Amino acid sequence: MISRRRALGLSAAFAAFPARASESVLRANDISLRALAAAKGILFGSAAASYELRDTDFAALLPREAAVLVPEYEMKRDVIEPKPGSYDFSGCDTLLGFAAGQGLKLRGHPLVWHWANPAWLEDVVRTRRDPRLLTDYVTRVVRNYRGRIRSYDVVNEALIPPDGGAGGWRPCFWLDVFGPNYLDLAFHAAHEADPDALLIYNDFGCEQGTPANDRFRRHTLELLDGLLKRSVPVQGLGLQGHLAAFGAKIDQRKLAAFLGELEARGLAVLVTELDVDDEVGPRDIASRDRAVADEARRFLDVVLDCRATRTVLTWGLSDRYLDPPQSLRLKLTGWQDRRLAYDRALSPKPLRAALAQAFQGARSRPEANKASSR
Ligand code: G3I
Repeated sequence: MISRRRALGLSAAFAAFPARASESVLRANDISLRALAAAKGILFGSAAASYELRDTDFAALLPREAAVLVPEYEMKRDVIEPKPGSYDFSGCDTLLGFAAGQGLKLRGHPLVWHWANPAWLEDVVRTRRDPRLLTDYVTRVVRNYRGRIRSYDVVNEALIPPDGGAGGWRPCFWLDVFGPNYLDLAFHAAHEADPDALLIYNDFGCEQGTPANDRFRRHTLELLDGLLKRSVPVQGLGLQGHLAAFGAKIDQRKLAAFLGELEARGLAVLVTELDVDDEVGPRDIASRDRAVADEARRFLDVVLDCRATRTVLTWGLSDRYLDPPQSLRLKLTGWQDRRLAYDRALSPKPLRAALAQAFQGARSRPEANKASSR
């Protein structure tokens, strides 16, 4: 559900559709997504991988559209600490060097996750049961980037996803050894390493409108309330924003109410990994692209109507670097994933226009302009 003011504004825009919309679409295509977002006090960006920067055309597009990057995989612990105590920041440093050279920010993702850990870690944690195996790593990474990376997904995906039965804490070795307190350990270590960094809990499952998502939103609020009650320095929620063009849809009323709960708690809202899966859609490309854009717009209209929202990142900017489909059926049909704003030829798609128009229609956040610093 979007605010009445915004609804009236939107209806006026569509009422003048022939003149207003084409004019606004033209204008939006001419202005970068980062500029359209910044005009409303919002930071727009994208995930990127260091190998993508070797593609000169893509490396030119990225800073034109994005004001902030997030490492797609270079800050995962399997890359950073492949052997105990042996740290390799080269991948992150490549992305940070590119970002700094282009006047972009880089946010950190993730510090603690159940996945993408080096092969040696789980056994050592289960054997030694030493919290420093978590806190020393967080401290080392955050101190290494202190003052250069100002926002982190401190813990990623600590809850069982909506399709995972009754929900609750996601089973993993961190939970088995330290209990839910592993989140407290991670956030306190990150805050002590850089008191100025924005510390986020990041997950997927709060977006769609099914009963399982209702339960997931309740569990997410319980998780956040527990952290806040124990004075754990969590400052916001990362909504990953993995949407479905032809699957479970977002419920604007439920999403708006949930965002209101976050705002009431003084928490920031970041969209951290926006993309729109179109896997089970029709073969017709135009229909798929339109459905991707429409679901993204329905989501963004609600998210951007919430004053606590300060950042929107897509999980990539172009379909060019998406993995091929997993299923043999899709491989055999030559199906290609079209979940992002630019196609493989780096041409803008309807999703790019939807992002632009969502930022154009968003309420401004003058008081959150300082958010663009993190
Ligand atoms: O490590 C190699 C590297 O040496 C090589 O140069 C590079 C290019 O070929 O590939 C690297 O391998 C893979 C990397 O993606 C890049 O493709 C890793 O083996 C693989 O594990 C890694 O997967 C990433 C995954 O997280 C695990 O880290 C995906 O790219 C990334 O999209 C995915 O992102 C997650 C978020 O972090 C959390 N939310 C869900 C999201 C999607 O799964």
